[in-house]
Amino acid sequence: MIAPSILSADFARLADELAAIEGADWVHVDVMDNHFVPNLTLGLPIVQSLLKVTDIPMDCHLMIENPERWAPGYAEAGAYNVTFHAEATDNPIAVARDIRAAGAKAGLSVKPNTPIEPYLEILREFDTLLVMSVEPGFGGQSFIAHVLDKAKQVRRLVDAGELRLVVEIDGGINMDTIEQAAEAGVDCFVAGSAVYGTPDPAATVEVLRQKAIAVDAALSQRRTQSPPQ
Ligand code: DX5
Ligand code: ZN
Repeated sequence: MIAPSILSADFARLADELAAIEGADWVHVDVMDNHFVPNLTLGLPIVQSLLKVTDIPMDCHLMIENPERWAPGYAEAGAYNVTFHAEATDNPIAVARDIRAAGAKAGLSVKPNTPIEPYLEILREFDTLLVMSVEPGFGGQSFIAHVLDKAKQVRRLVDAGELRLVVEIDGGINMDTIEQAAEAGVDCFVAGSAVYGTPDPAATVEVLRQKAIAVDAALSQRRTQSPPQ
């Protein structure tokens, strides 16, 4: 799945910018509060307006403090997936349950240097794991490859049937980096500048998707050729 991030879109023309990514699997909306991250973007009123003008499932990435207070509102508004940060709360399970009770998928995000081990036990409460591959706060940064170890670790648990969730990656995904993320077993790729920085965002989404699909096909073929012992 490809999830273009509207952080790199023209904020004065958001409805048009959503129309420009027709065919995207999710639209990724970065909510920043200038406290959890040193940047400020948009909040619930704008998300509510955006939901009225698109049928693309909305993936809200909350880079905010106090997600227990704010996250359920995004689910009630009709977001498809609501992701908050593990670093932002002491009670991630309660937040996940509130999001699900309000009708959305629940996602947990971890910053590049946050280990995944302490959260493995609670991932069964989630539908999505968002592995940050840049420090959250800004688009257009370079991909941090070491985070792929976390994606691989969780992918193994999903493949073993121990977890059921979408492994999503966010930050620095472009034509050059998407393949290594796909190789690590990522299911959903957020891309901001790589999509909106091109003249035809919808066509770019398709090229990115084909690159990920090609890696996936090669992985499946490898698996069939050498079945696990
Ligand atoms: C960064 C945001 C990302 C951002 C990615 O904090 O969470 O979603 O839009 O932008 P690119 O794809 O340009 O790295
Ligand atoms: Zn994001």
